[in-house]
Amino acid sequence: MNAQTPTNSASLENYWMPFTANRQFKAAPRLLASAEGMNYTSIDGRTVLDGTAGLWCVNAGHGRKRITAAVEKQLSTLDFAPSFQMGHPIAFDFAEKLSQVSPGGPEAGLDRVFFTGSGSESVDTALKIALAYQRAIGQGTRTRLIGRERGYHGVGFGGISVGGIVSNRRVFPQLPGTDHLRHTHDLARNAYAKGEPEHGAELADDLERLVALHGAETIAAVIVEPVAGSTGVLIPPKGYLQRLRAICDRHGILLIFDEVITGFGRLGTPFAVDYFGVVPDLVTTAKGLTNGAIPMGAVFASRTVHDALMHGPDGQIELFHGYTYSGHPVGCAAGIATLEIYREEGLLTRGAELAGAWQDAMHSLRGLPHVIDVRTIGIIAGIELASRPDAIGKRAYDVFVDCFEKGLLIRVTGDIIAFSPPLILEQKDIERIVAVLGEALKRVA
Ligand SMILES: Cc1ncc(COP(=O)(O)O)c(C=O)c1O
Repeated sequence: MNAQTPTNSASLENYWMPFTANRQFKAAPRLLASAEGMNYTSIDGRTVLDGTAGLWCVNAGHGRKRITAAVEKQLSTLDFAPSFQMGHPIAFDFAEKLSQVSPGGPEAGLDRVFFTGSGSESVDTALKIALAYQRAIGQGTRTRLIGRERGYHGVGFGGISVGGIVSNRRVFPQLPGTDHLRHTHDLARNAYAKGEPEHGAELADDLERLVALHGAETIAAVIVEPVAGSTGVLIPPKGYLQRLRAICDRHGILLIFDEVITGFGRLGTPFAVDYFGVVPDLVTTAKGLTNGAIPMGAVFASRTVHDALMHGPDGQIELFHGYTYSGHPVGCAAGIATLEIYREEGLLTRGAELAGAWQDAMHSLRGLPHVIDVRTIGIIAGIELASRPDAIGKRAYDVFVDCFEKGLLIRVTGDIIAFSPPLILEQKDIERIVAVLGEALKRVA
């Protein structure tokens, strides 16, 4: 029996785990018991360095007492309050504080905030706002939503329809009237890129192809991850996002950036909007919004989009959309405490200071067995391995298990390893990540 298997193995049966090979996992479980700072502790007492900030969300590191205190206080003051035709001060307070760090700064005007419960809900909310906006400005024929191959936008029906990861789509029907841009992954031209790869800006012109195919007057919005995470870290080619913005403008199409993973300091800037200097019309967030402590998401909308919907007869609800947990008081309390930590510790820009050392360390893995690419931006890295013949994903999975046993949590998609550690990391953590992964790569066949 595996050392980590709990004695009462029957207790593993009831929990149907998400995005997990349930039977394989339950036969040899990996269970985490606690966390502090950069590290988890497994149930058998081993320290495991968190190379992934949980799931790209614990940007300020684990066990932040300030967040705990804020949550405790809020729970004992106002545990829940409805947000439909009712309000509570902390939701307004959090939205106002978010507006002070909103993507692109004050000039971008992305300071109207709609709260959700997760990244998937943020995506579906942004898509619906885009459709409502087009209709409100007399462009009701614009109902088509464009995503991108290999995109990940959560698991709602809207998100999987614009998403482009085949396993997440093949079993489920999708929204009619969606289409996809080509993805930007091009190892032949861009392998071992540091930061934005040189080649591929012209792939944005694929939107012109879709406009020619469907007619601009049918297209409401385009949604992309500025840096694609879940598919295995795809960094936009230089000039690509700028070109996408220009084409959207030319055709009256809204641009949505899905910043669920890039938001809140991941690239060394508060948002990818700030990193790339490209301003979309809507920005989806979640994860780092509350440091992962309480499930919550938020959509930043431009004033133009928001104001277009603030019309109609007195007393009319402007947007028939919202969740029971939109603006949940405990989520807001966690979020405000998180923003305070980010501000005091400079975490929304700390990644910029570390990015050089991070990049050098990750690129030192070049040349190790089976490595065919290393790509980095901010505090993100993707390490792509050659797949075993007829066994896509098996090699990276073996590396993942090996690393976990040696005390490092990594994330794998297919045969790509992704890193996105908490932004409190230090040089010694970077060195440990590279050392443990390097040894694992040498061991795994
Ligand atoms: C870009 C992006 N959008 C949306 C989501 C979905 O977020 P959630 O799992 O909170 O629904 C994710 C999750 O990883 C993501 O990376």
